[in-house]
Amino acid sequence: MKILVTGAAGFIGSHVSEKLLQRGDTVVGFDNFDPYYPIERKHANVAILQQHQAFRMHTADLRDRQGILDLFVQEQFDGVVHLGALAGVRDAIERPAEYVDVDLNGSQNLMDAARFNGVGNFVFSSTSSVYGDTERIPFVEDDPCDRVKQPYAAAKRAVEILGYSYHYLYDLNFTALRFFTVYGPRNRPTMMAHLLADSIVLGKEIALYDGGDMYRDWTYVEDTADGVIAALDRPLGYEIINLGRGEPTQLKRFVELMETVAGGRANLVTQPRPAADMQRTFADITKARTLLGYDPHVSIEEGVRLFWEWYEKNMIQTEELL
Ligand SMILES: NC(=O)c1ccc[n+]([C@@H]2O[C@H](COP(=O)([O-])OP(=O)(O)OC[C@H]3O[C@@H](n4cnc5c(N)ncnc54)[C@H](O)[C@@H]3O)[C@@H](O)[C@H]2O)c1
Repeated sequence: MKILVTGAAGFIGSHVSEKLLQRGDTVVGFDNFDPYYPIERKHANVAILQQHQAFRMHTADLRDRQGILDLFVQEQFDGVVHLGALAGVRDAIERPAEYVDVDLNGSQNLMDAARFNGVGNFVFSSTSSVYGDTERIPFVEDDPCDRVKQPYAAAKRAVEILGYSYHYLYDLNFTALRFFTVYGPRNRPTMMAHLLADSIVLGKEIALYDGGDMYRDWTYVEDTADGVIAALDRPLGYEIINLGRGEPTQLKRFVELMETVAGGRANLVTQPRPAADMQRTFADITKARTLLGYDPHVSIEEGVRLFWEWYEKNMIQTEELL
């Protein structure tokens, strides 16, 4: 199969692309190398993918509607995995218009190109943040999700809803996967796992919100990538599916695990939780298990150890941090 993976130069996109290539698919990676975090990281991710002959990188912007329409006519993709996005929950508060432009309008450009060209399946990366402050724990997909707390998640929720229209009107197979705090090798440097490791190694001060009394349903990236590929392989009409681990961990515990594997202490400063942040995320993954055969198997202890192994080898030894 020939698959378009947007965000292929990023964290999750590079893992999904790698797995698709390993099983023999052709992958066209799509990314604009957005500078939200250092683009050297993204070039390093792409270099891994370029070891496969069946990979090609297409450097382009999700906002370039005509360019996307032309690309789909040229390539005739069998499926789309749409992971490209501006993805910073707090960053979105500072520049909501750009988030809506890239995350909502950019997604619509791709969905149009997919429907005009009869693409068999469209998998979209949504987020646990769409649940806002729901009181229903664990989070279940049929929650209304209409009190979304910030523009990033609002744009993602809007795409989920638009996906239904595209399925209903144009017969597009559309699956939205709600990711839950994905971590692992190649993690975005702005995410907690990476910030913690930086703090332990370099002594950098980092905020620990509410003294670490927050819960996240941390999901190891290999599990997430397997779930994405399972969704790509199963056109389901229209579905929204949680792709978490289903076992939240207290932030304080996550810190302890990282400090233990790293053999050092992070430089933590307790601060109140920002308004945009949720106190807890917790996925009910029954639907993912049933519809996708999804079965996350990397425990938080193992995942933190694997993250640290990668960090130690790639970040410390290359002195990229300094
Ligand atoms: N990492 C998580 O915990 C998490 C949680 C929930 C949802 N998600 C979603 O998963 C997807 C992948 O996230 P990630 O953690 O790998 O982030 P990432 O930032 O590493 O990857 C996103 C990629 O999209 C690219 N991009 C940004 N703007 C673009 C544009 N205008 N045109 C083309 N490409 C553009 C970036 O350059 C980047 O390489 C995103 O859609 C994100 O919203 C991630």
